[in-house]
Amino acid sequence: MNTDNWITAVLALRKAKKVVVFTGAGISAESGVPTFRDTDGFWQRFPPEQFATWSGLVQTAVSSPRSVAEFVLNVVEPIAKAEANAGHQAVAQLEKHVRTLVVTQNVDGLHQSAGSTEVLEIHGSLLEVVDSSTGNTVHRFHRADLARISDTLHSYVSQRTSLFSLLRYLRRVYPFDWRGRNRPNLVLFGDSLAEPAWSNACQEAENCDVLISVGTSGLVYPAAMLPDRAESAGATIIAVDPQPCLGCWLQGNAGAVLPKLVQDAFGSLSAPQSK
Ligand code: OAD
Repeated sequence: MNTDNWITAVLALRKAKKVVVFTGAGISAESGVPTFRDTDGFWQRFPPEQFATWSGLVQTAVSSPRSVAEFVLNVVEPIAKAEANAGHQAVAQLEKHVRTLVVTQNVDGLHQSAGSTEVLEIHGSLLEVVDSSTGNTVHRFHRADLARISDTLHSYVSQRTSLFSLLRYLRRVYPFDWRGRNRPNLVLFGDSLAEPAWSNACQEAENCDVLISVGTSGLVYPAAMLPDRAESAGATIIAVDPQPCLGCWLQGNAGAVLPKLVQDAFGSLSAPQSK
């Protein structure tokens, strides 16, 4: 850990009136939700050209419904089982000291589970079904609902139940509507970001004093523009990630770095352990 960066981060937080925490898959890794681009990441197992767009998914479903079921199972099951970790909790704690807005690319709802009250989900939420014509939420799943869906997907993937039974089950638990307007609130490649979340996120980034970017490779646009927008408007950018990042990089896992950062910024300043 670079001590100068640590002190810069702590002092910037102490002075800040408004903080944006911009999170990616890395913050949920310690809750058991896989990241996308690490060596065992999601896109290594499920090629994006087949699984990361709605048209790719439909084509794959026609030729190989079991592989789409396996993909959905791998998305849903870790999120069904996940609990907020020390990183999410530290972000929620930040609200007690300074106005904090969370902008997340994650669809797992874990910031809200940890107690964050202002969360913009720019890639949507696996826990919601929306009316695609209005953007209104028409149904909200609990994690227990996702766990039951996972069990049924497991049965189909492991050939213990038929496709017909799976579809009949989904017909019961998922709010399909006859006009085909209801869809999971998920942003895939090629989709526009969720609105008004994205416009609000841009506005908040341009008006914050500190933006903490946590656990994101910064490779997916337009989300990845957010730190640049904040920096151009004069904010201090802090990056928390085990992998090297530009600027004020605090190396390490979110669950270790964030609680200490919040404690040092709003308690007494102690030097981080050097690595
Ligand atoms: P990535 O998988 O691209 O990046 C995850 C980042 O988390 C990497 O920089 C890791 O080093 C870091 N990381 C891993 N473990 C960590 C830990 N314990 N604590 C902190 N950081 C850790 O995931 P994202 O950047 O979130 O979008 O990916 C962005 C978007 O790409 C996703 O929202 C998704 C995906 O395709 C869509 O599907 C539209």
